[in-house]
Amino acid sequence: MFKRRFISQILVSLFTFALVVACTQPNPSNSSVTPSSEGSTTSRNAVAIPIGVAVAQTSNVSLLGQEQVIGAKIAEQVFNQKGGVNGTPIKLIFQDTAGDEQGAINAFNTLISQSKVVGIVGPTLSQQAFGADPVAERAKVPVLAPSNTAKGIPQIGDYIARVSAPVAVVAPNAIEAALKTNPQIKNVAVFFAQNDAFSKSETGTFQKTVQDKALNLVTVQKFQTTDTDFQTQVTNAMNLKPDLIIISGLAADGGNLVKQLRDLGYKGLIIGGNGLNTSNILPVCKQACDGVLIAQAYSPEHPGDLNKTFRDVYKTQNKKEPPQFSAQAFTGIQVFVEALTALDNKTKLNTLSLEQLRTELNKQILSAKYDTPLGQISFDSEGEIQQSQFYVAQIKMDADGQNGRFEFLK
Ligand code: ALA
Repeated sequence: MFKRRFISQILVSLFTFALVVACTQPNPSNSSVTPSSEGSTTSRNAVAIPIGVAVAQTSNVSLLGQEQVIGAKIAEQVFNQKGGVNGTPIKLIFQDTAGDEQGAINAFNTLISQSKVVGIVGPTLSQQAFGADPVAERAKVPVLAPSNTAKGIPQIGDYIARVSAPVAVVAPNAIEAALKTNPQIKNVAVFFAQNDAFSKSETGTFQKTVQDKALNLVTVQKFQTTDTDFQTQVTNAMNLKPDLIIISGLAADGGNLVKQLRDLGYKGLIIGGNGLNTSNILPVCKQACDGVLIAQAYSPEHPGDLNKTFRDVYKTQNKKEPPQFSAQAFTGIQVFVEALTALDNKTKLNTLSLEQLRTELNKQILSAKYDTPLGQISFDSEGEIQQSQFYVAQIKMDADGQNGRFEFLK
């Protein structure tokens, strides 16, 4: 009898100990935490801090979104291992936006009202951001756009900033690289997806750069991100004998367009815009991807301890170099963690209501500098990223056309 009671006491003690450890460890797999209720000032520090991640986990846009999920999860793991926010872990709450505006709006609403996140990293597309960001702006919830590069994103509101450098500063680098590769380029054909806000913005930058470089813009061909057949546009362009073709679209349509350009005999250089910046296009265009130039806002070679950590974890998990979309998502989470930490140092987070926390966090985000895998970044007063290093990569496919990689140009 005594022995049985003794054993059950030991079991209770062990269980209690395990529970305490589970609740206090900055452990990313600790999924039992629930955020404290809105307006409450009760011990938010005792549980993980919820940060929303609203990106495309389904639909064609998940060709980009999958890479964002990986980058964000690595950040959660890395920063929680470093102690989270002054000892309190963060907890990422994922909401799939799929590929359209309504999906992004729904995801934002759920994260803000039900999950009570302190801020959101997302959505994947600028097209979605123009729909969903006003929801966060009205609710006064800070958003860090991880991949929205269209003109006008930070200007959506005071609570909207981005870690994804805009088309105006990234895209011209690809044309510079094309001219370096082939100084004879004269005639340029431009293609863009007319149903996508980012693609419309990016083609504007590409077309202006073509004119600034005194090249001939021989044609502008339009398509939809849902298109799979580009024969009419390709034939129209090829009749004008371009020696450079520039595509602003997304991954599935962009990959198919590259393939059809090569299938129909185009031999000149191709530039892909930011929507094609993923190795997930390689199974779409296969051998035809070879040689495509794509400007980059991240280099895996960037020096610095944090990039090394990020790169090592990514390479161990994925057996390849980390892509830009993963690095930007990682950076979005990093900015939240560092801003939360700085804020906590000034005012203990558990003394703030959720509303106060979101507002103070937004101010903190905009006021600091961050040493990230993208290099040192900061934000201007509107939330536009200030970043100085950009690169251009060229896709190299293996002879069998099955595997390939992004090689950074010197
Ligand atoms: N950079 C792309 C966009 O802004 C993904 O939509």
